[in-house]
Amino acid sequence: AWTASNIADALIEQVREQVGDGHAICGLSGGVDSAVAAALVQRAIGDRLTCVFVDHGLMRAGERTQVEKDFVAATGARLITVDAADTFIGELAGVTDPETKRKIIGREFIRSFEGAVSDVLGENASQGATVDFLVQGTLYPDVVESGGGTGTANIKSHHNVGGLPEDLQFKLVEPLRLLFKDEVRAVGRELGLPEEIVGRQPFPGPGLGIRIIGEVTRDRLEILRQADSIAREELTSAGLDGTIWQCPVVLLADVRSVGVQGDGRTYGHPIVLRPVSSEDAMTADWTRLPYETLERISTRITNEVPDVNRVVLDVTSKPPGTIEWE
Ligand code: XMP
Repeated sequence: AWTASNIADALIEQVREQVGDGHAICGLSGGVDSAVAAALVQRAIGDRLTCVFVDHGLMRAGERTQVEKDFVAATGARLITVDAADTFIGELAGVTDPETKRKIIGREFIRSFEGAVSDVLGENASQGATVDFLVQGTLYPDVVESGGGTGTANIKSHHNVGGLPEDLQFKLVEPLRLLFKDEVRAVGRELGLPEEIVGRQPFPGPGLGIRIIGEVTRDRLEILRQADSIAREELTSAGLDGTIWQCPVVLLADVRSVGVQGDGRTYGHPIVLRPVSSEDAMTADWTRLPYETLERISTRITNEVPDVNRVVLDVTSKPPGTIEWE
């Protein structure tokens, strides 16, 4: 029978068989999927798992502390943080094509994991130990939409599926590959992960890098981070977190429009709000947010975020739109 407990036990057993007495690392993104995948693998192989948090500089405000505090508190897992913002942002310079961004981010994740290996093994390295396995929180919809399943779609390269380099030196462990998000959350609760982790809205591995339409720069990231943080704050204080699936906030960095603020003309960027309701992210409907909430978000963003003078609402379902803009 399908119970979270049966599924968790079966997956733990599978991981044990696959990894044997090997070592594994798991990239944590701050999202639900990688947290649940890590917790499962930790149950299976204990301290032979090390979690790696790659700070690529494309995180939302507060993300890093959440992983470093909440996840470690809940699981006791070993965690290494890699500071890679300079590398990621450097590699993304001048790049505007969405798939190219995704490929670069995917490649740099793997390079960061490879670079972390010697830290992971510590003194075991001298005894010839290696890290052979990379754990990923890939879900069934990621597989299908990256063209890796039996489906025909090849919509975008989720960094953890289509974005991997060909010369990958790790074998992949993907315990959630056949599950949908609600099932992953059930398994996470079964493993004792707290609601702050399990109930979180999805956030894509490539982070804010695919929510800046145009080139990714530090200044633009800072603008988007502020706008995103305001939107999340207002959605939470309006009690809407349980209603929406997620609400990407997107910066149209190459678009400017004329505005008026105080006693002068402005020429700033638009921010797009993309609130969606969904069961599994394969399809989605745009969420009819209350006007008062939209008004608060819009007023605060245009008042508080420099260089943004307009807030627009995305009222497209999926299909034809995808949830993320890139
Ligand atoms: P799309 O934009 O394809 O998004 O409709 C479907 C869901 O997947 C999330 N998403 C990602 N998650 N790595 C991830 O871990 C990725 O590369 C990625 N791209 C999109 C998106 O936020 C939505 O929940």
